[in-house]
Amino acid sequence: MSNAEFPVARPRRLRRTAPIRRMVAGTRLHPAELVLPVFVKEGLTDPRPVASMPGVVQHTRDSLRKAAHEAVEAGVGALIVFGVPAVKDARGSAGDDPDGITQLALGDLRADLGDAIVIMSDTCLDEYTDHGHCGVLTEDGEVDNDATLERYAAVAVAQAAAGAQVVAPSGMMDGQVAAIRAALDGNGFPHIPILAYSAKYASGFFGPFREAAECAPRFGDRNAYQQDPAGPVGEALREVRLDLAEGADAVMVKPALPYLDIVRQVRDTVDVPVAAYQVSGEYAMVEAAAANGWLDRDRVIMESLLAIRRAGADMILTYWATEVARKLS
Ligand code: PBG
Repeated sequence: MSNAEFPVARPRRLRRTAPIRRMVAGTRLHPAELVLPVFVKEGLTDPRPVASMPGVVQHTRDSLRKAAHEAVEAGVGALIVFGVPAVKDARGSAGDDPDGITQLALGDLRADLGDAIVIMSDTCLDEYTDHGHCGVLTEDGEVDNDATLERYAAVAVAQAAAGAQVVAPSGMMDGQVAAIRAALDGNGFPHIPILAYSAKYASGFFGPFREAAECAPRFGDRNAYQQDPAGPVGEALREVRLDLAEGADAVMVKPALPYLDIVRQVRDTVDVPVAAYQVSGEYAMVEAAAANGWLDRDRVIMESLLAIRRAGADMILTYWATEVARKLS
C-alpha cells in the first residue's frame, strides 16, 4: 500500500536516532574477539619503530611485557607473538631453540600474565631462516614441504613448552596441521589448540610485515606455497576442510578486507571459530592516508573491523587491537 509520493515502508525510521540505530545494530565488536600481533626482537635495547607501520614497533622483551599488560587492561582477547632472532640460518634453528627469542618472550608473558589473556604464537620458519622462506629448502632452492613439516613440529612443541596456549601455523605447507597435532600430542600437549592459517593468500598486503619481522624472502616469492589470489574457485574451502580433517581447532583467512568473500564462504561452511587477519598492508594503507588527512582514521578503523566481523569473522587479528578495545569498553 504505497504510492510513489508517500511510501509506507520507510527504512529510515530505524535510522533516525542514535539509540534506535544502536538497538537494531546487527554487528557488534567486542574486545575479547580482538587479537594483537606483537613483534619482539632479540638484542634490542630500545623498541624500534617499524617505518611502514606507524605506531607498531619491534619490542624488547621488556617493552613487550608492558604492551601485553596494556592489552590485558584494555580487555584484548589474545596476543600472537612473532619473534625475530639476532642470528638466522638455513633451517631456522632459533625457531625451536628453548632460548630462542620467541620462546623467551612466551615465557615472560606467561610468567607475567598467566591466563589473563590468551597467548598465541605464530608457528612458521620465515622469521628464523636466513633465506626468508617459510620452510627449509631443497638443493634446487625450492621449499621442501615434508622436511619443513618436521621443523614445524619441533617449533610448535618448543612454543607450547615455553608457554604458548595456542599455536598458529602460517606456512601453508601441505599436512602442517597433522604434523603439528601429532607432535603436540606426542609431547604432552594434547590440550593445546591449533589455529590454522588455512586460507592464506600470496599477498602484496604483507609487505610492511616483512619489515617488522625481517622476513622478506631473499630470492623468489611465496607463490608456490601461499594461495593465488586468482586461484581455483573452491580452493580456500578445500584448504579449510583439509586443515579441519587434520585436527585444526579454528581456522583463519588472511588477508581480511580484500578477502571478505572468502571469510563469508568459510563462515558458512565450517562449525569451528573463524579468524580473519587484518594484515600489515591493510593497517599501513589507513595510517598513511590518515597521516595525509585523506581519511578519518578512527572512523575507517572501526568501519573496516565491522566489515570483517559482518563478513563472519569470530576473531580478528589487528594491530589496532589495544586502541580499539579501549574505545569499545
Ligand atoms: C608468516 C607470516 C606472514 C604474516 C603473518 N605470518 C608473512 C608472510 O606470509 O609473508 C603477515 C602478517 C601481516 O602482513 O600483517 N610467518
